[in-house]
Amino acid sequence: MRLQGRTALITGGAAGIGRETAALFAQEGARVIVADYNKQQGEEAIQALLQKGADAHFIEVDVSDSGSVTKMAAEALARYGAVDVLINNAGITQDRTLAKMTEEEWHRVIQVNLNGVFYCTKALVHSMIERGSGKIISTASIVGVHGNIGQTNYAATKAGIIGMTKTWAKELGPKGIQANAVAPGFIETGMVANMPEKVVQQMLEKIPLRRLGRPMDVANAYLFLASSESDYVNGTVLEVNGGLVI
Ligand code: NAI
Repeated sequence: MRLQGRTALITGGAAGIGRETAALFAQEGARVIVADYNKQQGEEAIQALLQKGADAHFIEVDVSDSGSVTKMAAEALARYGAVDVLINNAGITQDRTLAKMTEEEWHRVIQVNLNGVFYCTKALVHSMIERGSGKIISTASIVGVHGNIGQTNYAATKAGIIGMTKTWAKELGPKGIQANAVAPGFIETGMVANMPEKVVQQMLEKIPLRRLGRPMDVANAYLFLASSESDYVNGTVLEVNGGLVI
């Protein structure tokens, strides 16, 4: 029970890595808020957790809309009094090479992946500052560190998340709040299912562990950063990629 007594809010918790994380955190004793714009999947995820006896709650939110995020934060704080752990996990891709990428595709990915992380963190940071504690964990990507063909927009957001995380680690550390990022490699979720099979095969040859990551591999990294085991870890980017880039 590594998260006993803590409340964790997981954006994008209705599917993929976020959903696995919600289940793992509930198993470790956390009160879990799944915040997602997919209402049906989010409510299904919560039902599954409630059936296992967890304290879990769904909030419908579009992280790219600051008004929606403000309401999410108010609902979470009204229900549980505090959010101890924020997992900024919601993210999307809209891939195209630079020459073909439209401004719309650029702005949409920035709006969800980068502005969304800013909105969610800003909406909850005041209550963390008041309480003198909190853990902010944001999902970057290997692509934010090394780049990837067809992902100008996505790479910019994930590199931005690393920059924000290091800034928050410096700004908020003195207030008892830690900020860290996780940079997954290629993880078997809907996001990777959209990649061409040929690209996945090429990727597998480069991964020393010779497999894609599983959502649980990333959920475990979030768990470490959410638990007191990481109390002296601040401003780091934890890479979870099977050694794809060494
Ligand atoms: P996924 O597509 O399986 O799940 C993403 C979740 O975010 C969905 O439940 C979706 O409804 C939600 N979401 C999307 N836009 C939203 C919005 N505007 N407001 C609220 N919720 C929204 O994706 P996956 O693979 O689980 O990704 C989770 C995070 O991990 C993302 O930030 C992604 O960029 C990152 N990541 C994933 C990798 C992978 O290989 N799957 C690799 C590196 C990073």
